[in-house]
Amino acid sequence: MAARRDEDMPPDRNLALELVRVTEAAALQAARMVGMGDKEAADQAAVDGMHAVLHTIHMDGVVVIGEGEKDEAPMLANGEEVGDGTPPYVDIAVDPLEGTRLAAAGRPNALSVIALAERGSMFDPGPVFYMEKMAGRDEIADLLDLDRPLGRTVELVAERRGVEVRDVMVVVLDRPRHEEGIKAIRDAGARVRLITDGDVAGALLAAAPDRPVDLLWGIGGTPEGVISAAALKCYGGGLIGRLWPRDDDERRRAEDAGYDVGKVLTHDDLVKGSNCFFSATGVTDGDVLAGVRYEGARGATTESLVMRSRSGTVRRIQSRHDRTKLRDLTGYRMG
Ligand code: FBP
Repeated sequence: MAARRDEDMPPDRNLALELVRVTEAAALQAARMVGMGDKEAADQAAVDGMHAVLHTIHMDGVVVIGEGEKDEAPMLANGEEVGDGTPPYVDIAVDPLEGTRLAAAGRPNALSVIALAERGSMFDPGPVFYMEKMAGRDEIADLLDLDRPLGRTVELVAERRGVEVRDVMVVVLDRPRHEEGIKAIRDAGARVRLITDGDVAGALLAAAPDRPVDLLWGIGGTPEGVISAAALKCYGGGLIGRLWPRDDDERRRAEDAGYDVGKVLTHDDLVKGSNCFFSATGVTDGDVLAGVRYEGARGATTESLVMRSRSGTVRRIQSRHDRTKLRDLTGYRMG
């Protein structure tokens, strides 16, 4: 009998239910640094928490989107092998602390996030730091377009929803590079929710059925674009993105590496296949998830969103943790 190959061993159990332990651990660690004004320390705490638990998961994972190259990121670097080394063979994208500045300043919407998909299925952001993105719910997914004027897109969204343009809300990162786009949205009569950071939470907000936002638009991190694509493949909704090189040098390096920088990528290009998993745990309270709360001398609670694309099941998991027992169990101080 022929030996089983990697591609014959896709993930077939709901790994998201295990991954929630990973984002919970990262959030518990990072939460201690909330409001302390030190984004690097908050991020490091999240990395430590995530790293400690990730290696206990039964999988053979490779970090495709991590904390950066090995020489600058000793843990969760791109290319690091994670898990206990047993099948399934998977790609991993991590953002132990999405919204490092949010956490450092004690602002809402900081999350700990992980996405997982079959080996070879995740888009490698390569040298291009930013991507222009647009995301929304299923009902407007076919209207997403990065070339149509933004004002026209918000009109079409209003039409599709059967509401007035002034009812439409677009979530946008508050950056000077978005000035023109924000003006176009406002000139069309739609409203803008400016966020200081965290466009993964923005994408989740735009995709959620019961939230007051219709669309995410703007230029944000490419890694965050891939993670958001995984989230929306599970959650429902659509996301498109196009690489946005910062200068000619970045564009040249991308083209030399074989990237088509003009191509509009869909969520299915960013995360291929139908079997991806996503877990996010709130670090600070936000639109989508509650943050970590401490209870008494040794307790803490977390809220997580745990999803799998194949089944489409979306779980919101509220957990109560005993920090003393967790520390004894893992050897790490959890929060
Ligand atoms: P960090 O958590 O790495 O600080 O990223 C936060 C974030 O706001 C992302 O959500 C977003 O995609 C990106 O930064 C935007 O980048 P920039 O701050 O350079 O505009």
